[in-house]
Amino acid sequence: MDNMDWSNIGFGYRKTNGNVRCYYKDGAWGEVEVSTDEYINIHMAATCLHYGQSAFEGLKAFRGKDGKVRVFRLEANAERLRNSCDGILMPHISTELFREMVTKVVEHNIDFVPPYESGASLYIRPLLIGTSAQVGVNPSKEYLFVMFVTPVGPYFKKGFAVNDFVIYRHCDRAAPLGTGRYKVGGNYAAGMKASCQAHSEGYACEIYLDAKEKKYIDECGAANFIGIKGNSYVTPKSTSILPSITNNSLMRLAADMGMTVEQRQIPEEELSTFDEAGACGTAAVVSPIGRIDDVEKGVSYVISKDGKPGPVLTELYTKLRAIQYGDIADPYGWVTVIE
Ligand code: PLP
Ligand code: COI
Repeated sequence: MDNMDWSNIGFGYRKTNGNVRCYYKDGAWGEVEVSTDEYINIHMAATCLHYGQSAFEGLKAFRGKDGKVRVFRLEANAERLRNSCDGILMPHISTELFREMVTKVVEHNIDFVPPYESGASLYIRPLLIGTSAQVGVNPSKEYLFVMFVTPVGPYFKKGFAVNDFVIYRHCDRAAPLGTGRYKVGGNYAAGMKASCQAHSEGYACEIYLDAKEKKYIDECGAANFIGIKGNSYVTPKSTSILPSITNNSLMRLAADMGMTVEQRQIPEEELSTFDEAGACGTAAVVSPIGRIDDVEKGVSYVISKDGKPGPVLTELYTKLRAIQYGDIADPYGWVTVIE
C-alpha cells in the first residue's frame, strides 16, 4: 500500500483484501465467514431488491500516532442497526456478533487503514439485507449481513472548510412517522434527486425541512444539522432524522466544554441568528456551512461572514478527531483498540 496517495483518496469505494459475511437461516445467525469476493449472489426475488429490506451502518477506524488502530463507537452503531432492524422487521444483530465482524474485517484489511499523518481513515460499511425469494410483501425469512471496508478521505471535497448548502421545499426525504429515523436504503433513494440537484447547482449538500409544516430544519443530506449561537449548541429534534452518533458525541463534548445543548425544533428563520452552523456525520465529520440558500423562498442566510470555519465548530472538530486518532485520552469509552 506504499504507493497510495493517502492524503488525496476522497470518499469512494476501493477494493481491499476482503469482507466478512454472516447468513441468517432457520431463525439463527450462522458462523462468520471471510470472503475475497466483491459480489454477492442473491435471488432476483430477494426482498431487499423489491421491497427495500435493507439497512446499513457507517463507522470508521483510525490509525494513531502510536500505530494502534481505533474503531469509533462500535457499540452505538450496533445498537442503531438494531433500531433499523425493528423499523423494517429484520432480525437483530447482537453487539457481540457486530464486534466480532468489525474486528475481523479490520484485522483482515489492516494495511488499508490509512497512516496517521494522512488524515484519512478506514470506513466500515455493515449491510444487512433480506434475501428470501418472495413476491408477497412480507419480511424475508433469510438474511445476509456483510461488512466491507474502504479507505476514505473527506466526504465534502474541501475537507474541514466552509461549504454552501441549499434548502429545497419541493421534496421530502422522510415523513414524520416514516423511516427517516432508521438507516435504511430507501431513505437514500428518496434523497438522491435532491442531492444530485444540489450538486448540479453548485451546493455541497441539500437541507430538508420537516415534511409536515415545512417550517423547521430537519436533515442535511446524509448528516445532522448543528447551529451555534453564543454558548449554545442547537440541533434539531425530529422523528424523521437519523440519530447521528457523531452528533451525540459532539453534544457530549459541547456539554463538557460548558456549552448549553439544545435539542429542539429549529425554525428556518432562526438560521439568521446562528454564529456558526455545520453538518455532522461519520462521513461528513464536522462540515461548517458558509451560506444557506432557500431558493424557492428567495432567502439567503450568510452564516460564515469571513468564509472560514468558526471557533466553536473548529474546537469541537479538533477534540473529536483527537479522540478518534488517540491523540488525547478517551474518557467516554468511545474507542475500541484493534490489537
Ligand atoms: N443523517 C443521515 C441521514 C445519515 O445517513 C448519517 C450518516 O450516517 C447521519 C445523519 C450521521 O450519522 P452518524 O454520525 O452516526 O454517522
Ligand atoms: C455516513 O456518514 O456513514 C453516511 O451515512 C454517509 C453515507 C451515506 C455516504
